[in-house]
Parts: sequence; structure tokens; C-alpha cells
Amino acid sequence: MEHTDLYSTIHKRKSIRKFDPTPLDEATIAKISNRFDKIKPLITEIKTKLMILPANTVKGLFAPKAPHYLALFSEEKEGYLTNAGYILQQLDLYLSANGLGSCWLGVAKPIKDFNNDSILKFVISLAFGRPAEQLHRKGVEEYKRLSLDQIRNASGMDDLLEPARLAPSANNSQKWFFTGSDGNLDVYVSNSLIQNKWSLIDAGIAICHICIAAQHLGKQFEFSKDLKAVKSEHGRNYVTSIRIF
Ligand SMILES: Cc1cc2nc3c(=O)[nH]c(=O)nc-3n(C[C@H](O)[C@H](O)[C@H](O)COP(=O)(O)O)c2cc1C
Repeated sequence: MEHTDLYSTIHKRKSIRKFDPTPLDEATIAKISNRFDKIKPLITEIKTKLMILPANTVKGLFAPKAPHYLALFSEEKEGYLTNAGYILQQLDLYLSANGLGSCWLGVAKPIKDFNNDSILKFVISLAFGRPAEQLHRKGVEEYKRLSLDQIRNASGMDDLLEPARLAPSANNSQKWFFTGSDGNLDVYVSNSLIQNKWSLIDAGIAICHICIAAQHLGKQFEFSKDLKAVKSEHGRNYVTSIRIF
């Protein structure tokens, strides 16, 4: 049976780095591929493509060995990294909800140009397969995360920001920050040279968790860019605004 309760999965998922090397059966791979059609982008104007690649085709530093990799290819337009985080996190949660392990791979790359497209470039991938370690956390206390007070001065939206707080990030760096009130949330990432690429992907992951929480609470959301917000937070880079209603 297919599990689609991504909200509860936010509260138990973890990165899996030990995999059963046996490839998943064709039906399971087909089910995952079929799920691609249900994935919503953050920025509809950016063309992307998801591909499942076999074992030993994605390699690099700190890359766990897995029987499969889920690779995202994208146009490199403004916002594409945050869009990539938003898209792939929906699948990270889907895999975890359905008993499979996955791990984001920040520096690993496919060994050849599988997509063979001059417009869509490889952005990032997830390793996935059957877990050979405990799949889920037992509770929120097992997450090593900053407190809500450290990641927001937004008011009245903690039911949306607690899921963002639990989101995975590269090196668990959690560079996100949230301001706003009354259903208007502005998303920022700390201004750091080294991790800029990953921080923007991480922001997309946290935004994915916020939107899943909004849906869980029966709310709708829309994204916009607020030029005033761009100027208001020194030391942090503005990513996007979300209106939740
Ligand atoms: C963009 C991104 C890149 C990552 N790259 C790697 C990686 O290359 N190797 C790895 O073992 N984990 C990687 N991770 C996993 C993080 O280390 C992990 O999400 C973080 O420590 C929080 O732990 P959790 O996912 O178990 O909650 C990455 C995560 C993100 C979001």
C-alpha cells in the first residue's frame, strides 16, 4: 500500500546511510516514478527532470553506497536551487513514508551525462533503497536542531515553523531564518560564502515542510517576492515570501 502522510513523516524521518545493496523490484521503482507526476514545484517556470539512476552511477565524497539514486536536473534560472530542494524533499519524505531510506548527496555527481540535455543540468541527488539501519526516529527529541527562537522572529506561525525546524540541511547547518506575521512569512538564509549553494537548497527543503504543514492544517499557500523584505534583514539573504491563508 502507498503511504502519502508526509506530515507525520516530517516528525520521524532521518538520513539513511546504510542500505541493503539489493535493487528494489520493478514494481516499487515504477511506483516511485509514478509519484513524480504528483510533485509540485516551487517555481513553475523552471523546467526540471527527475531520473532514477542505478547503483554505482553517482559518486563523490561523503556519498553513501546505495542501490539507486534519484537525480534532479534543472534549468539554471533564478531560484532553481531552492526549487530543487522543494521538489526533492517531497520525494525524500515519500520514500521514508513508504519504508525506504534516503540521503541527500551534496557533493556527489553522476559518473556520466545521463540526461544528455544542454538545458537541464544535474543539480543534486538522493541516495535511496531499503534501509539497513533503523528507518525512523522515535520522537522529536532525537533531532539535533536549533530551537525555534534561534530560527525565527516571525509571530503566530509556530505550527508551520516547527516542521521547518526539523528539516534536513547540508551538514545540518540550518542556515534558515523566518520573519513575518499574520500568515505572511519571509524566508531568509544566512549570508555565508562557503555554503551558499547548499543553503538555498536547504531553504527549499524547509519551505517544503512549511507547505506540507499548511496543507495538513487545511490552509492554502502561495509564493511571492517582496522587494521590501529583500532590504530589511542585514546579514541574511532573502529567499522568498509565502502567504498562508
Ligand atoms: C543539501 C544537502 C546535502 C547533503 N549532503 C550530504 C552528503 O553529501 N553526505 C551525507 O552523508 N549526508 C548529506 N546530507 C544529509 C545531512 O547531513 C543531514 O540531513 C543532516 O545532518 C540532518 O540529519 P537528518 O537528515 O538525519 O535529520 C545532506 C543534506 C542536505 C539537505
